[in-house]
Amino acid sequence: MNELIRLENITKSFDENVVLNGIDLTVGENEFVTLLGPSGCGKTTTLRIIGGFEQPDSGIVYFDGQDITTLPANQRNINTVFQNYALFPHMNVGENIAFGLRVSGKSDAYIKDKIKYALKLVNLKGYENRRIDQLSGGQQQRIAMARAIVNEPKVLLLDEPLGALDLKLRQEMQYELVRLKKELGITFIYVTHDQEEALTMSDKVVVMNEGYIQQEGTPEEIYDEPINAFVADFIGDSNILSGKMVDERVVEINGIQFPCIDGTEQGFPPKKRVDVVIRPEDIEIRPYGKGLFNGTIISKLFIGVHYEMLVQSEDGKIEWLLQNYDQHDVGAKIGMYVRPENIQIMHKPKSEAESAMEIDL
Ligand SMILES: Nc1ncnc2c1ncn2[C@@H]1O[C@H](COP(=O)(O)OP(=O)(O)OP(=O)(O)O)[C@@H](O)[C@H]1O
Ligand SMILES: [Mg+2]
Repeated sequence: MNELIRLENITKSFDENVVLNGIDLTVGENEFVTLLGPSGCGKTTTLRIIGGFEQPDSGIVYFDGQDITTLPANQRNINTVFQNYALFPHMNVGENIAFGLRVSGKSDAYIKDKIKYALKLVNLKGYENRRIDQLSGGQQQRIAMARAIVNEPKVLLLDEPLGALDLKLRQEMQYELVRLKKELGITFIYVTHDQEEALTMSDKVVVMNEGYIQQEGTPEEIYDEPINAFVADFIGDSNILSGKMVDERVVEINGIQFPCIDGTEQGFPPKKRVDVVIRPEDIEIRPYGKGLFNGTIISKLFIGVHYEMLVQSEDGKIEWLLQNYDQHDVGAKIGMYVRPENIQIMHKPKSEAESAMEIDL
């Protein structure tokens, strides 16, 4: 595979906090590379350095063999779809897609053709004149993609582009992205903190933690041969749920309140919407009505040492994944309990409302 981008010993600090600790990374032509890691590990910063929106303190960025470390963003053959995709709400779909082309002075006929082409690619043919607020989240996401694609970049940088979508739409978009990548024949560098997403879509997964690359490899390599506990832990199965802080150190998931150990001090004040991760082995089984919440076991698998069970919540909205050494019957109603320290609160990707107007020209 031909090398397209290479990061050599990149370091970056913000206010004396080291955010990137000597990142070495090679991205091949037409490769789908995913940067995977927990919140704050430096994924976005890495992407911004590749895109030219941020300068490293030291190290070199190569593109096609050229040192582009100090080349401005708009002179790189790279386009970005940001974590918060920041469409222009006062422009319609067509105008949004055309924005970059107008700035670079392309003719009206050329632009019209390009809009058509891009809308077809993202399966939104005929949407030119729709207003942005008349689109669903997934459609807006695809417009953001179309806007990046029309500039014909050699590389597309995608920062958690599916973060705001519900699970089903996310999965659909994952297929779309892989298809798009094949059709366009360009290089994708994708950022996510969702391990499943990374494993599904990528040619290469790069697992990051605290400014270091922990491991890079094919999805199979990362899954089957994790290099350390961090990677193993990060790649393993988890319950990942949407939640909301309702009090200091209390998070609500699907109407149930869980005491946890995170609060304002950790950046999770009351009312904040969050993602919550609960590992299957951390859900303890209690008698029905004696835990924090109840459910019905709907499936059970014996996998070596322990049982893996799916437990449906009483309102039917959530299927919890549990691992337990004890045998329980399918159909049984159980209570469940999770210790506060086993509830991991995570930041959600920024919502559109919070988004700064970051423009990718
Ligand atoms: N402009 C900045 N000024 C100060 N600190 C920053 C700045 N940008 C990022 N950081 C810090 O650098 C670290 C890495 O941030 P980065 O945005 O790269 O993380 P991330 O891996 O993208 O996380 P997430 O999954 O939450 O998006 C964080 O601790 C963040 O607070
Ligand atoms: Mg980020």
